[in-house]
Amino acid sequence: MQDPREAFDLDGRIAVVTGAGSGIGRASAVMLAGAGASVVCADLDGDAAKATAGTITDGGGAAEATAVNVSQSPEVDDLVNRARRDHGHLDVMCNIAGIMHNSLVVDTEDADLDRVLAVNLKGVFYGCRAAARVMTEQGFGSIINMSSGAIDTPAPTIVCYAIAKAGVAQMTKTLAVEVGPHGVRVNAIAPGWIVTGMTGRHFTNPDGTIDEERFNAVSAPMRNAAPLGRVGEPDDIAYAVLYLASDASSFVTGQILRPNGGLSIP
Ligand SMILES: NC(=O)c1ccc[n+]([C@@H]2O[C@H](COP(=O)([O-])OP(=O)(O)OC[C@H]3O[C@@H](n4cnc5c(N)ncnc54)[C@H](O)[C@@H]3O)[C@@H](O)[C@H]2O)c1
Repeated sequence: MQDPREAFDLDGRIAVVTGAGSGIGRASAVMLAGAGASVVCADLDGDAAKATAGTITDGGGAAEATAVNVSQSPEVDDLVNRARRDHGHLDVMCNIAGIMHNSLVVDTEDADLDRVLAVNLKGVFYGCRAAARVMTEQGFGSIINMSSGAIDTPAPTIVCYAIAKAGVAQMTKTLAVEVGPHGVRVNAIAPGWIVTGMTGRHFTNPDGTIDEERFNAVSAPMRNAAPLGRVGEPDDIAYAVLYLASDASSFVTGQILRPNGGLSIP
């Protein structure tokens, strides 16, 4: 049996994380680096990516930062190909960048639908495709896509987001079947409600502090509906990312992992 600590050890591994400037992507980048990986922190917000990379290197880890718009396939190809060229291989690709948009189906503008699909669906596709090309050639690798609990629980106003995330789940399963024979694993994570910039807009004051009263009011439905009685923190998801990135999950592919406090149990 492999030493359990070794199974989670990412020493010498190269990971690319999109959306690394904030929330779940940031926590995942820091987590992977903490387990020994060298992490390419990529985000539309280049300064935020730099801040995450700085946190990692200040703590003694290895990281670099790059600005990327995942909705532009040449930029994603370049991100992945550069990581492989600079480091010789690519072990982990985390497609985490995402955006939210709220509107009822009947009120949704074409432009809003296009914008959300461009980032949350096509952006993940571009990341999957670029990584799969590199990883199938080298014969190993783990691709981790960020889906959402929105694939299990319909809710008003999140249609653009939910259909993109359902597409990510199906993309994950399809790609897993295609690349498994080449030694590459592909999995998705469907988080429950996590306290990040995405959800924080509902309870964050203009100065960046959290309005506790609003936080309690906004999060209460999710907290109360979850058997574990709480909402999630970015690290709750980063631990799932670490598992799927590591050898501990070497028999796991094509799966949708649901760290959600039990909020939905399909
Ligand atoms: N927070 C939640 O409750 C929750 C639940 C389920 C799934 N998710 C998913 O987790 C992922 C991370 O979300 P989060 O909550 O950490 O949000 P967040 O807003 O804190 O972080 C998202 C990051 O993605 C970046 N980004 C946005 N558009 C981009 C683009 N075109 N190219 C590159 N980077 C881009 C942003 O700059 C930001 O740094 C998203 O895919 C989101 O849908 C979040």
